[in-house]
Amino acid sequence: MEEVRIKLSKEGLLSTFLRIEKEGDRAFIPIVEEGVEKARALGFEISYHTFKAPETPPRASYRDLLDLPEGLEKHLPSSFDIIGGIAVIKLPEPLLPYKKEIGRALVDFNPNIRSAYLDMGVTGDHRIRNLEHLAGENSTRTVHVEYGVKIYVDLSKAYFSPRLATEHMRVAEMVQDGERVLDMFAGVGPFSLLIAKKRRPRVVYAVDINPHATDLLRESVKANRITNIEIITADARSLPPEIRADRVIMNLPHSARSFLPHALRHLARPSAAGEDTRENRGIIHYYEILPKDAMEPRARELEEEIRAVAADIEARVRNSRIVRQYSPSEVHAAFDVEVLLP
Ligand SMILES: C[S@@+](CC[C@H](N)C(=O)[O-])C[C@H]1O[C@@H](n2cnc3c(N)ncnc32)[C@H](O)[C@@H]1O
Repeated sequence: MEEVRIKLSKEGLLSTFLRIEKEGDRAFIPIVEEGVEKARALGFEISYHTFKAPETPPRASYRDLLDLPEGLEKHLPSSFDIIGGIAVIKLPEPLLPYKKEIGRALVDFNPNIRSAYLDMGVTGDHRIRNLEHLAGENSTRTVHVEYGVKIYVDLSKAYFSPRLATEHMRVAEMVQDGERVLDMFAGVGPFSLLIAKKRRPRVVYAVDINPHATDLLRESVKANRITNIEIITADARSLPPEIRADRVIMNLPHSARSFLPHALRHLARPSAAGEDTRENRGIIHYYEILPKDAMEPRARELEEEIRAVAADIEARVRNSRIVRQYSPSEVHAAFDVEVLLP
């Protein structure tokens, strides 16, 4: 019976809602209604049987669809990322021989998941995720919804992580009416899109060096009917000097440090004509990967690094927080830095 169940699951025919029922030496394995003809064509014996309605949902997790050799179940991750219709999972070494079955279980378990991929980490300047297709449709393009905002994503062409959603919204909520925002490493634009859609900025400059990322952002801007994002495909080190911002977002956590002088160059100063009514200050949302006990000393060091860029610049870290655990010993840290300009 177990063999039949696994085969049905692999073919995407197994119902994940009803339980297998036994009558004497016969077992009835529930399949999805639209799969009857395919199951018949595959040689399964089809009978019509009235299954008991489950009192509680019978399967709490994709794990319940798997039949792994003894001792391996404990290695199954309890969480994985869902990006639009795509599941992305990291697997420890002992589970790699069963990666396809695990992918199949992810697709079978959740009707909203149409593809499953193995996550082999993010690399390179463009921070692209290395993926291996496991099950379902082999397409890395999808639309992810964050706080009601549509984000066009292609996981094999541009960076995106659903784990930063709370951080994207936290920063968006700080944006005041009429602000100019510079998102220096925008990727497919989650910070920029949330700010433009949920707040009333004068303009959001969304910059990324990866043209695939900015193309996807263009699609999202259109789909969300946004008008106040200016998309720039460029190296954030060589932006036009006319770009002036009250708030700069620097989410390139492995190397943002070397971009600090460039960020400061674009922080706004009041014009001689006095048309800029803002105070002589700006905010930088700065991100870095750090050992978890290094937040406090790094905050002080960051203030010093900013002060060292130009005479009379003052910097104060107003808030710091852990965005997420990055590795067992490191965190993705956020620092909100207030900068007073000369
Ligand atoms: C970690 S991703 C952040 C994406 C986005 N802010 C988010 O929260 O999803 C960093 C992005 O920086 C871009 N990048 C790397 N070097 C850059 C540079 N010199 N100038 C502009 N963008 C750069 C990469 O292409 C990548 O999309």
